[in-house]
Amino acid sequence: MHQVLKEELPFNEYVINERWKSRLIDINAYKALHTKSLEQLEEFWASIARELEWFKPWDKVLDASNPPFYKWFVGGKLNLSYLALDRHVKTWRKNKLAIEWEGEPVDENGNPTEQRKLTYFDLYREVNRAAYMLKHNFGIRKGDRITLYMPMIPELPIVMLAAWRIGAVTSVVFSGFSAEALAERINDSQSRIVVTVDGFWRRGKVIRLKEIVDQALEKVGTVENVIVYRRLGLKDVPMTEGRDYWWHKVMEGIKANAYVEPEPLESEHPSFILYTSGTTGKPKGIVHDTGGWAVHVYATMKWVFDLREEDIYWCTADIGWVTGHSYVVLGPLMIGATQVIYEGAPDYPQPDRWWAIIERYGVTILYTSPTAIRMFMRYGEEWPRRHDLSTLRIIHSVGEPINPEAWRWAYKVLGNENVAMASTWWMTETGGIVISHTPGLYLIPMKPGTNGLPLPGFDVDVFDDNGKPAPPGVRGYLVIKRPWPGMLHGIWGDPDRYIKTYWSKFPGVFYAGDYAIKDQDGYIWVLGRADEVIKVAGHRLGTYELESALVSHPTVAEAAVVGVPDPIKGEVPIAFVVLKQGVMPSDELRKELRDHVRKTIGPVAEPAHIFFVTKLPKTRSGKIMRRLLKAVATGAPLGDTTTLEDETSVEEAKKAYEELRREIARG
Ligand code: WTA
Repeated sequence: MHQVLKEELPFNEYVINERWKSRLIDINAYKALHTKSLEQLEEFWASIARELEWFKPWDKVLDASNPPFYKWFVGGKLNLSYLALDRHVKTWRKNKLAIEWEGEPVDENGNPTEQRKLTYFDLYREVNRAAYMLKHNFGIRKGDRITLYMPMIPELPIVMLAAWRIGAVTSVVFSGFSAEALAERINDSQSRIVVTVDGFWRRGKVIRLKEIVDQALEKVGTVENVIVYRRLGLKDVPMTEGRDYWWHKVMEGIKANAYVEPEPLESEHPSFILYTSGTTGKPKGIVHDTGGWAVHVYATMKWVFDLREEDIYWCTADIGWVTGHSYVVLGPLMIGATQVIYEGAPDYPQPDRWWAIIERYGVTILYTSPTAIRMFMRYGEEWPRRHDLSTLRIIHSVGEPINPEAWRWAYKVLGNENVAMASTWWMTETGGIVISHTPGLYLIPMKPGTNGLPLPGFDVDVFDDNGKPAPPGVRGYLVIKRPWPGMLHGIWGDPDRYIKTYWSKFPGVFYAGDYAIKDQDGYIWVLGRADEVIKVAGHRLGTYELESALVSHPTVAEAAVVGVPDPIKGEVPIAFVVLKQGVMPSDELRKELRDHVRKTIGPVAEPAHIFFVTKLPKTRSGKIMRRLLKAVATGAPLGDTTTLEDETSVEEAKKAYEELRREIARG
């Protein structure tokens, strides 16, 4: 069931090296510390929260009087922008580099043509000015939602921190999403403004982002203003009089030393909404608070990333996903780190771009995705060998299972067998890392592909179907048995769905939706999703969204989408499509449907294959049996088919699939 490859999981392969030997701890000693943290859970988290600066201390660490609506650090007041900036500019860190930014374009020698360096003081100044702009020029108040549709440039963290400074709630939409996906998210969050750019670089091409915003706004009623940051200086950017404003024009009128008082926000005040996919229905807006999230992210920055003042940290995730929220924007800045932010594609102009970046800035900590590692594996060792990667001391991955082979490759080729490596498990809903190795604390031996043990303060288990702990080596469902600080605070506007999705499969326990195995040492190995979510190159997509996109095409009657293993992307979606009466299947139509999905959701969602069939396998009550389609596509046994209405539907899917395989074999 391991998503990527059917490699054996190396339960007995223990890895440790010279550099990290001094942090090594016996597995049982680690477990004892973990048990202790759970025994005094509230005091444990309070002791970490005290390391942050609060405007007003909390009255109660955890309010569990109305589960699952838990509240953390109740009565406490704080501000994320203050924690990330003001606190540092009062110290020597004022002049420390916060961000080393690099744009995508390069000159004829392959050197970047655009670089920006921002110190904590620079960032503090810019965030204050942006906060001033939001508050005074656009009238944004505490609790207002603002949608950010921007690429990886410093202005994205700047405007997020500015929003949090005044208590506005951010909703960042990944810049690879389509106009329709953007419109849906703006509508659901009822945002008053959208911040975007004229355009940005992606793999040598200009993406004209503002035009996508304009398309989205045709379907949206709430947006009063659009602020456009001039990233490229494109000509002919359509601007709607009275609604759209250039960032730089507005900023001209704001003094360099503008200061906006950071709003003392209740710990429970929402800081952001982030839309993510689930089993059914449209994407849900996951809501996170201020205080609990800050404490969780702060703790994991220390334990998992072991950040020291001299580190150069690089998290390659896009800020449009949760990893970027927690570990590009809040985490590194709160801890006072120097970090790299890169705008463009990993293999542009050639496959050593990332290695050149690591060498250029002397990156010491890399946080990346298994998909990226597998892609670079395929390009070959010679690309990383051209560069000095000896500065690296930690390489972690996130977003999907890492197969042992990819782990070993990264450990050896990138890490020179002298790094700490973890596959950090968490999700949008958890707000921060939950299972990982902890080089910043004590390090238990690594194993290629495992997630490691739960972090201190997290009560994690693997349950069987009856809600009992699954025995070692047996697949079950990943759960979190007690509340944790960074936990989601519901789904925007839908408390019932919150209870139903996460707290009902096993009453009182958080259900993550992942399959996992605990090995004989208690190490957890997350295997992949147990629901209808697909992880394409780490991006989280719902089969339902893809199916809706397909049936919105005039030729499509019905569609079923499943994820199948892919050697690089982990999983890719494939679609079985029933056409409307009288529509003839053709290669052109196939291409048209793939384009249609790209346009409706975004390029990440494009199905790898589309199969035309005359019917879908369904139960007698009419539910599509995606499980069978998946079995057909992976060659796995069909399992129980007693509820299947019409067996010929599976035969047809099989035939369609085999035909494709023959076609591929023929080239
Ligand atoms: C998967 C990303 C295995 C998992 C931070 C989870 C992982 C989903 C890992 C959440 C990992 C994340 N090993 N699987 N280290 N990290 N996942 O919300 O299926 O985009 O449920 O958050 O990614 O995806 P999301």
